[in-house]
Amino acid sequence: MNKTPLLAVKNLHVSFRNEEGWLHAVQDASFSLAHGQTLGIVGESGSGKSVTSLAIMQLLAKNQSRVEATNIELEGQSLLHCSGEKLRQLRGNRMAMIFQEPMSSLNPVFRCGMQVEEAILAHEKISRKMAKKRVLALFEKVKLPHPENMYHAYPHQLSGGQKQRVMIAMAISCNPALLIADEPTTALDVTVQQNILELLQELQQQYGMGMIFITHDLAVINGLADKVAVMQKGKIVEQGPVKEVLQNPQHPYTQGLLA
Ligand SMILES: Nc1ncnc2c1ncn2[C@@H]1O[C@H](COP(=O)(O)OP(=O)(O)OP(=O)(O)O)[C@@H](O)[C@H]1O
Ligand SMILES: [Mg+2]
Repeated sequence: MNKTPLLAVKNLHVSFRNEEGWLHAVQDASFSLAHGQTLGIVGESGSGKSVTSLAIMQLLAKNQSRVEATNIELEGQSLLHCSGEKLRQLRGNRMAMIFQEPMSSLNPVFRCGMQVEEAILAHEKISRKMAKKRVLALFEKVKLPHPENMYHAYPHQLSGGQKQRVMIAMAISCNPALLIADEPTTALDVTVQQNILELLQELQQQYGMGMIFITHDLAVINGLADKVAVMQKGKIVEQGPVKEVLQNPQHPYTQGLLA
C-alpha cells in the first residue's frame, strides 16, 4: 500500500499586491488527497478556488503574488522549491490542469490536433507520427466526433463542449497522477455539462488519477467527489467526506449553500 498522499497542502497562504497593499486571496488552507481520490472544492466567486489550484501548479506570477506554505507536496516531493525546469516536467507528466476558460488555454491560431501533439512532444521523445497517433487515440477517448477532422480544426470551429474535450485530451495526454479541473463545465449547457462530468469520471477510473474538481455547485460534488472542501473568502471553512458534509453541514456557509 502506498501511504504517501498524492497531494498534501499545508498552511497555504496566497496574497496579491495591489494599490492598498496585499490582498489575501487564500489563507491557511490545508488539505490532502490520496491516489485515485477526488476532492471537490466549492465556494462562491472570488473565494480563492482558482488561486489555490494555480498555487499548487506553481503557475502564479512571482512578481505579483506571494505564495507561502508549510508544504505543498506531490507524491512526497515538495513543489515549493522545485526548479523551473523540474516544474515544467512535473506539469503535464505528474500534474495537469483543465482551466476555467478553454479559450484562454487553446491558441486560436493553431489547429487543435497540433496543440495536443506539441504538449505530448514537449514531454516525450517520440516521433511526430507517433504523437499524432496518440492525439487521435486521445480524441477518441474523450469522445470527440471524427477525430481526424477535429485534429485539423481550429478552436473557433468547435463547440464549447468540444473545446473542453480537447482541453481534457491535452490534460491527460501524458498520464498525470493529479488532474485539477477548474469549473470545467460552467460555460456549457446542462446536458453537455453532464456528458463532460461523466467523461471525467470515466477517465479518472481508467487512469487511476487523483482529481481536484472545482465548482460553484455542491450538487455536482455529490456523486463525483470523495471529499469536499468548502471555501469562503479565502478560507476553507469546512471539509470532510462528501456524504458527511452534505448530510450534516457544520458551517453556516455550507448550510446556506445546501439550502
Ligand atoms: N492575478 C491576480 N492578481 C490579483 N488578484 C487576483 C489574481 N487572481 C485572483 N485574484 C483575486 O484573488 C481572489 C480569489 O480569486 P479566485 O480566482 O481564486 O476566485 P474563485 O474562487 O476561483 O472564483 P470564481 O468562482 O469566480 O472562479 C479574488 O479576490 C481575485 O480578485
Ligand atoms: Mg475560479
